[in-house]
Amino acid sequence: MSQPPVPDLAALHARGAAQQPRWPDPAALEAAVTRLRGVPPLVFAGECDELTGKLAAVARGEAFLLQGGDCAETFDGVTADNVRNKLRVLLQMAVVLTYAASVPVVKLGRLAGQYAKPRSSEEETRDGVTLPAYRGDAVNGFDFTPESRVPDPQRLVEVYHSSAATLNLVRAFVTGGYADLRQVHTWNTDFVRSSPVGRRYEKMAAEIDRALTFMQAIGADPDEFHRVDFHSSHEALILEYEHALTRIDSRTGRPYDVSGHFLWIGERTRQLDGAHVELLSRIENPIGVKLGPGTSPDDAIALAERLNPGNVPGRLTFVTRMGAGLIRDRLPNLVEKVTAAGVTAAWVCDPMHGNTFEASSGYKTRRFDDVIAEVQGFFDVHRALGTWPGGVHVELTGDDVTECVGGGEALLEGDLGHRYESACDPRLNRVQSLELAFLVAEMLREATPASGSSAGSSAGSSAGSSAGSSAGSASEPGREARA
Ligand code: PEP
Ligand code: CO
Repeated sequence: MSQPPVPDLAALHARGAAQQPRWPDPAALEAAVTRLRGVPPLVFAGECDELTGKLAAVARGEAFLLQGGDCAETFDGVTADNVRNKLRVLLQMAVVLTYAASVPVVKLGRLAGQYAKPRSSEEETRDGVTLPAYRGDAVNGFDFTPESRVPDPQRLVEVYHSSAATLNLVRAFVTGGYADLRQVHTWNTDFVRSSPVGRRYEKMAAEIDRALTFMQAIGADPDEFHRVDFHSSHEALILEYEHALTRIDSRTGRPYDVSGHFLWIGERTRQLDGAHVELLSRIENPIGVKLGPGTSPDDAIALAERLNPGNVPGRLTFVTRMGAGLIRDRLPNLVEKVTAAGVTAAWVCDPMHGNTFEASSGYKTRRFDDVIAEVQGFFDVHRALGTWPGGVHVELTGDDVTECVGGGEALLEGDLGHRYESACDPRLNRVQSLELAFLVAEMLREATPASGSSAGSSAGSSAGSSAGSSAGSASEPGREARA
């Protein structure tokens, strides 16, 4: 009952908040914050609780999280086509994962709020000219001019409106017929359909169609066939924005950050005594923390104690981003010690942020094979420990961009210039995303030997979880200990 209140902004800044813009005009900042304090919530507390419940199933090993979207959303990117394309690829991936592995998939967009970026350098230099770094549309402009790079707090208000427009569209799509399973073929349109992975998807969609027809023939037509649950998430980075949208829920009297359902703390802002950990420790939403290769088990245990002192299942998700080369070395000790300490968390793999490099052409890119190798390492480590590989967190787009190399289309470094549109990190394109989904589905099927996938599943399912009779039964050693 007597929870400590949410500290005010001054108290948060007094902690030396990392990665904050230097707003040049305090009065303009104050005006933007005042405006944001008065706007209606983007999400409801009850929806956040619902997501916590779903993530609790992930933490128990009974569901899998698919979290994906742009590295950085842009205001210009808020168009019906763009939002629909992103949603479409996520729906396709989710149906592949669900169908192939018979595991419930929790769908979480990296959207409707993902507008602020942490940067490794305060400044950017091009041809001898140095300007403040681009920090996302929430802060300044992408154009490399002095005017554009000045932080403008009015952009925070625009983040709110852009997020509202995006979420409005997403809500309409997921409940208004577009996410109906009968549309499973429709999602597979244009350039994807003719690709090998598109044809593979088409075959699977035909099987689903037959199953649906059968269900309909016997009179079964549950609501779940016609709509999906979909939630929003972003990195909680700019204190002014997240603080202004933190509200007391009238049902419970508890604070929720109503800017998104799920908020996460980035690798660069997860200092134990820092402002971001302090703010997110006070809100009731489900939250995540990114953990890079330098994370010690003690760091993660301390974060769990600060962020989830009640050890509530579903409240805390650890998103590891080690890099393909380090995951097998760093993850085992981390997961083992954190689990042994009794911490309840969902473990999710971000195979993107540890695998970025600069191509000789100067483009920031990632190799599709590195992405897959990190996910495979993640599954192997969890299998060896008897813990649950709870999900993937990916940067992707529904379009035909050329930002990551490799994949079935064998994109080369020389191809990157054709259609490189990311305002920040390179994203998987739609074909690569679908390929990833099929590969992860195979890994997931092996991780859930009791999922009923008798035919077609590769050998090698270990013994040890034979007592489980349903998908992801928490019968493996290490899983039940965390309940
Ligand atoms: C991101 O998710 O875009 C990001 C910046 O990640 P990280 O904090 O893991 O570097
Ligand atoms: Co990124």
